[in-house]
Formats: sequence, C-alpha cells, structure tokens
Amino acid sequence: MDILPTINLKAQYESLRPEVEAAIARVFARGNFVLGEETQAFEQEFADFCQVSHAIGVDSGTSALHLALRACGIGPGDEVISVAHTAVASIAAIEMSGARPILVDIDPQQMTLDPHQLEQALSPRSRAILPVHLYGCPANLTEIVAFARAHGLFVIEDCAQAHGATWQDQPVGGWGDLAAFSFYPTKNLGAYGDGGAIVTNNLALAEKTRLLRQYGWQERYISASKGFNSRLDELQAAILRVKLRHLPAWNKKRQQQAARYDSLLATSGLILPVQPAAASHVYHQYVIRHTARAALRDFLAQHGIQSQIHYPVPIHLQPAYHDLGYSPGSLPHSEQAAHQVLSLPLYPELSEEALQKVCQTLLDFLADN
Ligand SMILES: Cc1ncc(COP(=O)(O)O)c(C=O)c1O
Repeated sequence: MDILPTINLKAQYESLRPEVEAAIARVFARGNFVLGEETQAFEQEFADFCQVSHAIGVDSGTSALHLALRACGIGPGDEVISVAHTAVASIAAIEMSGARPILVDIDPQQMTLDPHQLEQALSPRSRAILPVHLYGCPANLTEIVAFARAHGLFVIEDCAQAHGATWQDQPVGGWGDLAAFSFYPTKNLGAYGDGGAIVTNNLALAEKTRLLRQYGWQERYISASKGFNSRLDELQAAILRVKLRHLPAWNKKRQQQAARYDSLLATSGLILPVQPAAASHVYHQYVIRHTARAALRDFLAQHGIQSQIHYPVPIHLQPAYHDLGYSPGSLPHSEQAAHQVLSLPLYPELSEEALQKVCQTLLDFLADN
C-alpha cells in the first residue's frame, strides 16, 4: 500500500532542484559560509516579505525567540505570558532568557492565546506577551497588542508556523515589538537544516539582536556586550532565498487545499479549523478535532494515510515543566485541544486525488462511529 505522508519534502526538492543546486554552487564557489552575502540578501528579502524594516537571520526559531527576549532586556525575575498549547520551543526560549513563563489558556475555537486571560496573568514582574500563531493562524493581535500597550509590555510574536499570514491585511511579524520565525525544514518556508529569523520595525532592537547573534561583537573580536553564537549559515540563506520566491504561491496552494478540506468535510461532524474574520491563515497545518481521535487516527493509518498530533501534551503537563506549578485542569481548553487535535496531510504538492481520499476515509470512519 502506498503511504500518503503528512508532508513531502522530496517532491518539493524535485520541483526546485536546478534553482537550489545553483544557489548551493554559488556559496561553495564563493567560499564564505557564515553570515555573508547570502544572509544579507536574504535578510533584506525576508524583511520586505514581512513588510518590516529589519530582519536578522539566526540558526533556529528557538534562537530567534531567545534573542528577541534578550534584546528586550528580559531575564531572571521577569515573567513572560504565553500559552501551553504550542511547540515546546516557545516556552524553552522563555526559560533560556532566564524569565519565568506564565501560561494562559487558549481560545477554544482558534486554539491561540485568549486575550481575555491576560488580565489575571498580569503581575508586577510581567514584561512581555509571547503569542503563538499556531498552525499558521494569527492570534488575536489587535487585542493582544492593545493590552500590552496599556500595561507597558513587549509583544514578541512566535511566527514559526505563520510565514505570510496576515491580521487585518498586515503580515504577522510587524505587529509586535519583535517577531521570531523558524525555517525548520517542515515549515511553510523551510531550510535544508535549521534556521530562523527575527524581524522588527525598531532599529534599536534590531541592532541589539544583531550583537546578541554573534558574541556581542560590534566589530570583529570586540564584544560591546555579551552575546551568543546564533548565526545563520550561507548555504541555508541561499536555499531560503530560492524558496522565499515560491512561498506566496505555496501559501496560496495551502489555502486552496484547506478550502477543499473545508468543503468536503463541511457536513462530517468533525470540528474544522476556524479562520477569524481579521485573519488570513496560511495552514502550516490543517487541524481537525474529534473526541475519538485515537480510533480515527488508527483508521487513517490502516488506509495508508499518515496524520500527526500537534501537540499531544500541553507544556504545563509535560514532565520537564512540572516546576512551573500547574496541574491537570489548570488550562482546560489547552488540555482538551491536546486530546482532540489531528493534523491531516497538507502541503503544496498534495494532489486533489489524495486529498479526496483523505476526506472519503474520514467520512467512512464517521459513518461507522
Ligand atoms: C510554534 C513554534 N515555535 C518555535 C519553534 C522553534 O523553531 P526551531 O525548531 O527552528 O527552533 C517551532 C518549531 O519547531 C514552532 O513550531
């Protein structure tokens, strides 16, 4: 039986092979492998794509979040408000800065940070809000940014899954003080290895981030401040430049596929993704919800269809994060989402035939259960 995967990076590579090989050859021929011309050019192109003034290429999305927090001067004794229904990296990055993550519940429909939870999470130690645009759908940026401004907090957007998504027709990344992107290979814009970027419209924050990325060097070997090694390499930057040119078309394709899923599953009884009126969702994942998820997932697997769970355990219930002091029942919507979510195959190269097979298999399961 042919297996239908949830993502197919080999198919993507085949469609890009000559462009990628030329980009790689260019880097090898130049012999400059870290923070060179390709990184600089990519930073400009990615800043333009996000409609912001500055982009700083780094070695992962986690580093991007970490440096964004550090650039705001956030550290030990500070609190950063975020969500438990996310990739662990969002919260790991807060702890890397030395700050304490304060986790709030999600909106049960959107599955992103519920702005109504912010008031009760606030304390004199609060310094920032870190909303996550999960699955490619922007969190409610209007309300989050308004709350942050009213209380003197920074907003650091976790855009790791949302390259090109918009809120009120404005790309994510420019709403907060800073934003972090991941270019992990499976992302809507993915490198062939790790990579990430920070974007901002604030020159002072951009300059601080650039220093933090490379040992605090103002000039070579002279550290003006303390920093890290979080550099982007030239091969990844060159590959990202190739892929960035295709990203708008890929995102459009994802949106068309999501619309097909929406229409074929409209009467299925499954809970389907919700796109807020202000948002343009870029469907990094197409996530359905069902109470009998395990049986549904097994049934798909028996029919050769892969699916994924993003994410099976909310951060506050993970063994490593018991010390944050939460317990089962602390964040009920996050816990319910973790029990019900299922990501279906969705990637630009997915065929209409394969998509129909996924829907028919889901409908067959639901007819008998
Ligand atoms: C929501 C979210 N935040 C942060 C990250 C971290 O990115 P990276 O894996 O590039 O460090 C990821 C990706 O793994 C993510 O999905």
